[in-house]
Amino acid sequence: MIIAPSILSADFGNLQESLSQVKSAKWIHVDVMDGHFVPNITIGPVVVKGLRSYTDQVLDTHLMIDNPLQYAKAFVEAGSDRITFHYEAVNDPLKVIREIKQLGVPVGISIKPKTDVKSLLTILEDVDLVLVMSVEPGFGGQSFMPEAVEKIKELTTLKKVVKNNYLIEVDGGINKNTAKLCKEAGVDVLVAGSYIFNSPNPESQIEDLR
Ligand code: DX5
Ligand code: ZN
Repeated sequence: MIIAPSILSADFGNLQESLSQVKSAKWIHVDVMDGHFVPNITIGPVVVKGLRSYTDQVLDTHLMIDNPLQYAKAFVEAGSDRITFHYEAVNDPLKVIREIKQLGVPVGISIKPKTDVKSLLTILEDVDLVLVMSVEPGFGGQSFMPEAVEKIKELTTLKKVVKNNYLIEVDGGINKNTAKLCKEAGVDVLVAGSYIFNSPNPESQIEDLR
């Protein structure tokens, strides 16, 4: 199980210190928001460049933005190791997947809570990861929407059907209890923000999730 602490809940006044609190995590989840696709503004490529300068952890970049192709290259050049964009943000997801792959990074597609797994049927063969949102994207600290568990189960089954071993990632409201439900459904990557960083001991929270 890969645990990806979401720095959305970290201390933006001292991200270096926040990263030093989650050294055992293989991935760091970076939430990029543009104030259009979601009603919040967060991180740009300059921040990724800063993070890159003090960690070798995988920077798992979650683009919650309109027009992901306009910015994907800048994020990869800044140091993003993986790029995930939203199905709802583009007209031609396959084109976006192919163009991001050409930048040399694995590509993920994410769906908001109201989007069906079925919408992804024609593109599942081509992705490296599917990110199931278990809250409405935009803010940390929301409650887990249990419908996400069914989506994870569906995606687990579909791996065999489309013969593609993409990773399944879940994001939003993850704690010890919801993590267990997701694991039983077949999830590979757990994103957790407030559960990890709103604690005096982030490493023990990571251990808990494991
Ligand atoms: C929400 C973000 C999440 C967020 C999760 O739009 O994509 O990554 O940081 O935060 P928690 O774990 O607090 O729900
Ligand atoms: Zn996220």
